Amino acid sequence: MILALILAFSLAVPAFAAVEDTGFSDVDANAWYAGAVIYCREHNLMAGTGNDQFAPENNLTRAQLAAVLYRIEETPAVTGTDAFTDTPDGAWYHDAVLWVSQQGLIGGYGGGLFGPNDSVTREQMATIFWRYAGSPAAGSENTFADEADIAAYAATAVDWSDSNSIVRPVSSGTFAPKSNATRAQVADALMNFDRTQQTVPTAPTKPDPTPSEGGRVLIAYFSATNNTEGIANHLDAILDAGIYEITPETPYTSADLNYNTDCRANREQNDASARPAISGSVDNMEQYDVIFLGYPIWWGQAPKIIYTFLESYDLGGKTIVPFCTSGSSGIGSSAANLYSLASGATWLDGQRFSGSTSRSAVETWVNGLGLTLTPAA
Ligand SMILES: Cc1cc2nc3c(=O)[nH]c(=O)nc-3n(C[C@H](O)[C@H](O)[C@H](O)COP(=O)(O)O)c2cc1C
Repeated sequence: MILALILAFSLAVPAFAAVEDTGFSDVDANAWYAGAVIYCREHNLMAGTGNDQFAPENNLTRAQLAAVLYRIEETPAVTGTDAFTDTPDGAWYHDAVLWVSQQGLIGGYGGGLFGPNDSVTREQMATIFWRYAGSPAAGSENTFADEADIAAYAATAVDWSDSNSIVRPVSSGTFAPKSNATRAQVADALMNFDRTQQTVPTAPTKPDPTPSEGGRVLIAYFSATNNTEGIANHLDAILDAGIYEITPETPYTSADLNYNTDCRANREQNDASARPAISGSVDNMEQYDVIFLGYPIWWGQAPKIIYTFLESYDLGGKTIVPFCTSGSSGIGSSAANLYSLASGATWLDGQRFSGSTSRSAVETWVNGLGLTLTPAA
């Protein structure tokens, strides 16, 4: 009992921020999906089920997902008819289904059936978001332990979804493609998808790079669990550069990083204005021409402390080379979302590594950048 109270207290009242009320009586603020539910509520992406409930563990039907997407698009007028025999004219979802099918987001099963009351499976959800994103390239290919269960039509979508952290695995290495998506999982995917769409600048200041010649190099990195640090150390050995660890004023505890809860890291990633304070600063930033900027991927993006770092210096005229480590996600939009924070810099394409990438693989990447670099003084 005492332990439960201590735990409840320490989780409910962290030192750095108050836990937000989720707005739903059945969504605990410490649930892994609490941040997503709050995000969807605040961004009008997904409503509750009535009576202050969100029903996070319930499944979503195909008609309900159609309605969610249709509402996000502000219920545009629809004309024409669909070919489905199981979506009657007066049905509450009729227009939504017509719209999603006309947009090519959710097709029917064939034989005139849409299956409005069938639950959406996780592979269907990944496919629908992938189509909503314009059917992009897969990104890096990931191999799940249950890869063989993924239907051929969903394979690219699941790879894309995983590379961009949209529909996340149910546990490490397991996608569960045929399981029905829960409303909590849909909220999570909606938030991840929306964040990707919203934050990518429409015209990123990604310049046509003319990398600095003879540039003096700084490796600046943030690493909460030392994976990115390992890559930064490889770079240091290769480049003999200046190296600077971006150290948070308040270190991240393992509870802060427990992304299955409403942890500090999750809350910061969900807060556009979060700028965690950095302890110390780079000595004489002016001396550097090229900055290798390293970070872990947190929910598909750079941790907010990287935003703090970029806003702390005048980086105009410098060349910035982003790199990251992650569990499986690619660098995705994480680097593009940083461009505007140092818009006077020349940003080169970023590179994702796993924590165990070898020094020689890092060296191959560096040598392919086309930079002429000078060791630090
Ligand atoms: C809050 C949080 C969110 C994460 N989000 C993702 C993610 O979206 N995709 C992914 O592949 N890995 C994700 N990870 C795993 C880290 O990116 C990965 O472990 C990384 O190598 C950690 O680097 P570090 O040891 O330098 O901190 C996340 C980790 C944390 C703590």
